[in-house]
Amino acid sequence: MAGDGSALQGGTARGPGETWDAVAAGYAAYWSPRFVPYLRRAVELVRPGPRGPLAVPGCGPGEEVILLHRRFPERVIVATDPSAAMLALLRARLRQEGIGRALTSQGTAESLTGSVLEAAAVLSCFTLQFLPRPLEALADWARALALGGTATALFWPRPAPASAFGRLSAAIESTLGESRPEWEPGVRRELPQLGLQLVHEESLAHEIGHASASELFDRLVDAGPFRALLERHGQAALERCRAAWLRDTGLETRGARVVDRPQATLWVLEASGARGGAH
Ligand SMILES: C[S@@+](CC[C@H](N)C(=O)[O-])C[C@H]1O[C@@H](n2cnc3c(N)ncnc32)[C@H](O)[C@@H]1O
Repeated sequence: MAGDGSALQGGTARGPGETWDAVAAGYAAYWSPRFVPYLRRAVELVRPGPRGPLAVPGCGPGEEVILLHRRFPERVIVATDPSAAMLALLRARLRQEGIGRALTSQGTAESLTGSVLEAAAVLSCFTLQFLPRPLEALADWARALALGGTATALFWPRPAPASAFGRLSAAIESTLGESRPEWEPGVRRELPQLGLQLVHEESLAHEIGHASASELFDRLVDAGPFRALLERHGQAALERCRAAWLRDTGLETRGARVVDRPQATLWVLEASGARGGAH
């Protein structure tokens, strides 16, 4: 999952919501628990303005929504995602936890203002790197935020070439010809034009374990973003990627398991009020 930003960027014949519908239950079971340490840190860095709801675009099954509610139980949370199946999982979880102050709404990160305005904070986890036009989403978050509100964005940057996901990206590029666009530097330069100031940035890495490299690959396909690659290229092409990567995965073997420490990036952006137009 980590560092795999390109996998959904090309889009498929189906919309992103439908592609993620197909993997929603698997994602919630396999990836959500593994990502909790990253989500915890992102939630720790959320700095809401004094009034207004907290917006969570690209919420998926909503692990971060639960964590956010625990930190700010008095605030209304508006969680959005284009995938109906992801939202259904979140609603079930909210019922199970007895949380009534979180609302769900189907929509993309690029149209957050269709669901929430005058937000005290935006929290986006592991979604920005999938978007074909991340600037469009950031511009919309800037419009959704009340003055002084902050957007906290956790995403997978381009992985280091020697890392497990760097090698996986190279295997995909050599097999399918799809590479991950380097969007962060351009987006970073444009932030002031959107009325967003980068006030904090950090890298974070946590150990994630898998039964085997094959299991990791399979869960990317049947429970994660490689579902889009499968839809675009078919099973045989995915098998060639898997074989190319398995020759040298970059994963560390620890007893009967393999482990990785994927590096994520966290940005905290403040809405400065000097807003430009959408990009
Ligand atoms: C890797 S999951 C992240 C889910 C959750 N935020 C987390 O950190 O576990 C990516 C999510 O992005 C959603 N997504 C895909 N395209 C999107 C878009 N254009 N706008 C908002 N969300 C999108 C998917 O439906 C999926 O739920």
